[in-house]
Amino acid sequence: MKIYIFPLLFFLSLQTVFSAEPWRGPLTIAHISDVHTTSREREGNILKIIEEVNANPEIDLVVVSGDWGGDAYPEEFVLAKKWFDAIKKEKITVPGNHETQWGYGSGTRFADTFGNDRFAISVKGIPVFGLNTSPPLQFIKSHIRSDDLQWLEGKLKEHASAPFVIVVSHYGPNGNELGNWFDLPEILRKNGIGKALILSGHWHRFMLCNWNGYPGIVGRAVAENKKKKQHGPGYVILNISGDGAVTASEKLLGKPPLAPEFTFKLGDAEWLAKTVNSGRNLRNARWAIKTPPEAKAVIETNETIFGGVAFSAGRFFYATHAGELVARDSGRHDFPVSWKVRPGGRLYGTPAVIGKNVIVGATAPARVCGYDIADGKLKWSVEANAPLLNSGVVYDGKLYVGLGRDQFAAIDPDTGTILWKVPCGNGEFQALPAVTDTLVVTGVWDEHAYALDRKTGKMLWKWRSPRSGLRYSPGNSTPAPGKDCIIIGTASTGVVLDAETGQCRFPFKGRESHGISVDGTTGYTRQLNGRLTAFSLSAPKYAEKFSVPYAKQDSNPAPIREYDGRIWLGTTDGEILVFSSDSGRILYRGKCGFSTVISIDRAPDGMIWVILAEGKIMLFPSGVEKHVSSQPHL
Ligand SMILES: [Fe+2]
Repeated sequence: MKIYIFPLLFFLSLQTVFSAEPWRGPLTIAHISDVHTTSREREGNILKIIEEVNANPEIDLVVVSGDWGGDAYPEEFVLAKKWFDAIKKEKITVPGNHETQWGYGSGTRFADTFGNDRFAISVKGIPVFGLNTSPPLQFIKSHIRSDDLQWLEGKLKEHASAPFVIVVSHYGPNGNELGNWFDLPEILRKNGIGKALILSGHWHRFMLCNWNGYPGIVGRAVAENKKKKQHGPGYVILNISGDGAVTASEKLLGKPPLAPEFTFKLGDAEWLAKTVNSGRNLRNARWAIKTPPEAKAVIETNETIFGGVAFSAGRFFYATHAGELVARDSGRHDFPVSWKVRPGGRLYGTPAVIGKNVIVGATAPARVCGYDIADGKLKWSVEANAPLLNSGVVYDGKLYVGLGRDQFAAIDPDTGTILWKVPCGNGEFQALPAVTDTLVVTGVWDEHAYALDRKTGKMLWKWRSPRSGLRYSPGNSTPAPGKDCIIIGTASTGVVLDAETGQCRFPFKGRESHGISVDGTTGYTRQLNGRLTAFSLSAPKYAEKFSVPYAKQDSNPAPIREYDGRIWLGTTDGEILVFSSDSGRILYRGKCGFSTVISIDRAPDGMIWVILAEGKIMLFPSGVEKHVSSQPHL
């Protein structure tokens, strides 16, 4: 037998060597971005561009770096897939914020349509990776998720000997929009990738960026934009020669490519550093952010978390984007993991704790799951109509939860028995509902908020957003119930509704994010221009109490909390602010990280728990204070 082993091994090793396609430049890429097909004219343009690209024998790879559509209607996904299928070349695409952040089913629809939302292909021996950098249905800072980074790391290890790699991301490092943009170059460097090219979009402007040592091309949008000197519909052509020299040229539809706008060599970090600065953004990098000394504890989970935290005696719970419901011991200084389970798919919600149960929504399969708090054993599950991006709330011993979309239910948390289940809207649930003695109020991504009778589920009233368009739905607005009113909002307005009738008492300048004072007399809201505003809830019309600037811009939809006469607010930029409830004076501000503050909650022992999307959980004393200027750092 021995005699056959060597030839067999030799044959196998030859197979390994020759099965990897060798690099044989040049590689020519058509980089299409921000199609934004909302009109017939633009539809014509993308079809013509695809025809042109298909007919060009030099093009090896077509990259579409996101924003195929406008409002993420289902028909837009159908069209996007149709066009993508029409590309008769090697191709890759990633979702942009217009595929994930707004509208009807956009949280998971891109992956449903294209099979996934992260991709790895190989063209002429060059690995090409696509990442989803847009958080689902949330107008929060964009983010490269930890599970995607781990996936990318695995792929990079597989392709360690590649001459260079290409990464596609909708967001670039520019404009401080992609919170952890520096994680991408870091992971490339850590895995010995000296040469890489990163292709992105979103800015609708053809640019060269410096991803901390790696060149990035931001593609132009398909539509003509004379202000940006884009004189006709078009895209970008990149040519990479065998020695890694890159030329990037604008290509107007039907015309020859323009002279190269950017010429550089992959791996020439020195030239890049001299030419394009990434220093400003590096100030926001993980290593540049010091944990505020006022935090009493910091738990680095290193997992992307899009939901909040729940507490039981001696434990706390959170759910990760990678798909784990995690229970940890809150009584020990190192917060060890007690158990973790996988309810199914990626997780977006906030766990709910009631009695001996912890409950969370899953995405694949779409269901609500109840676990034994002691050991994480699955006790029951209730099938949902769509992947759960939302969470349930417990009240008076029962769980109130939207079933992904279209139906709302009250559930017995011990057995999973459905106490009532009613139709509720025509779209996804996302934010936490509000539950009072008489009402359950929830926003839906269908332009409406609904109020149900808490005991029976009977629909009592609905409120319609004054601005039409799914992106102006109150789907990600956690309603704040007052004595006889409900505060809710959309991306364009806030309103105070009569709790009994749903009639609008008055609108106010605000967005999805708001809160209410403990005594129920004052509403709080956050404005896009970075102001915290307080207004009276007893007045018949809008009466402002104070309005305090704290940031240049802040679109975080997370609720605003009040504890012990202090208002707590977390920003999209990872900052925590504490204001005095009576005057709005800033008592404390601390930069906790580089991603959005997802939630702020008070634990039973009074400590304030803060979760950032980057997976950092921080504990602050409720009386945290240090001398800070009342003027914000604008
Ligand atoms: Fe975009």
